[in-house]
Amino acid sequence: MKPLSELLQGIPPSATLAVNDKAKALKAAGRDVISLAGGDPDFNTPENIVQAAFRALKAGDTHYPPSRGAMAMRKAVADKMAREYGLTVDPATQVLVSPGAKFLLYAALSALVNPGDEVIVFEPYWVSYAPMVIMAGATPVTAPLDAANGFAITDEIARYITPRTKAMMVNSPNNPTGHVISAEEAQVVRRLALEHDLYLLSDEIYEKLIFEGEHINLASLPDMAQRTITINGHSKAYAMTGWRLGWAAGPKDVIGLMAKLQSQTVTSAASFTMAAGAEALNGPQDAVEEMRLAYKARRDFMVDALNAIPGVECDRPSGAFYLFVRFPGLGTDSMQIASILLEEAEIAGTPGIAFGQAGEGHVRFSIATAMSELERAVSRIEKLMASR
Ligand SMILES: Cc1ncc(COP(=O)(O)O)c(C=O)c1O
Repeated sequence: MKPLSELLQGIPPSATLAVNDKAKALKAAGRDVISLAGGDPDFNTPENIVQAAFRALKAGDTHYPPSRGAMAMRKAVADKMAREYGLTVDPATQVLVSPGAKFLLYAALSALVNPGDEVIVFEPYWVSYAPMVIMAGATPVTAPLDAANGFAITDEIARYITPRTKAMMVNSPNNPTGHVISAEEAQVVRRLALEHDLYLLSDEIYEKLIFEGEHINLASLPDMAQRTITINGHSKAYAMTGWRLGWAAGPKDVIGLMAKLQSQTVTSAASFTMAAGAEALNGPQDAVEEMRLAYKARRDFMVDALNAIPGVECDRPSGAFYLFVRFPGLGTDSMQIASILLEEAEIAGTPGIAFGQAGEGHVRFSIATAMSELERAVSRIEKLMASR
């Protein structure tokens, strides 16, 4: 047989797989594994959004929609950008709606890079970032951020910029660290982007899940709109992971190429999910606030409870729904810590190394998990640590 794709074969296997496979095997063997490994809200999609999808289906909105997205949904995005950030975005040319933010990140990278280009990815990064850069045909350059400094972006990152750097990927609030960028960090990013003529991919999918501080939309900083692609979606804020709905807003030429990729591959997002998506953005936001408060209560419970256990350390994240926990009592090898947690306490967490070298020493726990499960997890960790 002739060889398969070198590009795809060259993508490193996910470091999460080993632990996930073990967790599945334990569950299949009847063990009561508590999973804190996922990124899927445990809430249901708010009712007004579900009803909008029903209405669309009943009204026959079941045909191919425009490839760039139903106009009502694109307008909802443009209205949001204007309302929340004071940005003028043309729904006809500057918005793309896709089946999920993940595809949009890949589409944006594909629109930006040529072979030999480099893309800066801050570490720890969401697991798909580096593979996506490779799949788009460029080289990821990982810029480690320091845990001791709360994973803040500082001037230090300048040293990773070369004449080949095309773009930087920024994710705030951050998965996995929960870090929310400050005005000062945003200025560092802006200054470097302007100085070195870089594009910015700003992944803002957790923007509605902030507990302290304020969300900064990087595109709305002076002179940044023409070089920033804002990527966002419904999965996290509206508990809509299974609907597969995301959107991007940015410069006309970049969005145009992303739209070309979409029209030649996945065609579009699903018609009736976009009706629901427009309702999510235009309709009442009470459910979003209720979920945010629930995540905040879980965060506070978990951070306090974990820090009270000898041999466990957990910073209080300002956003998203993850805790990036250290277990000095179990060592510094995150694969090993995740393995001990799974085998001895039946808790599945994601080893920090899955998010790049700078994530080493940590395990990511998702708090998009019912409080009762989190309480059970804490008492298991207490027992585990007391036994060592
Ligand atoms: C940082 C980040 N960006 C993007 C996504 C993808 O979201 P979507 O469900 O819209 O594809 C996720 C999902 O976990 C994420 O954590």
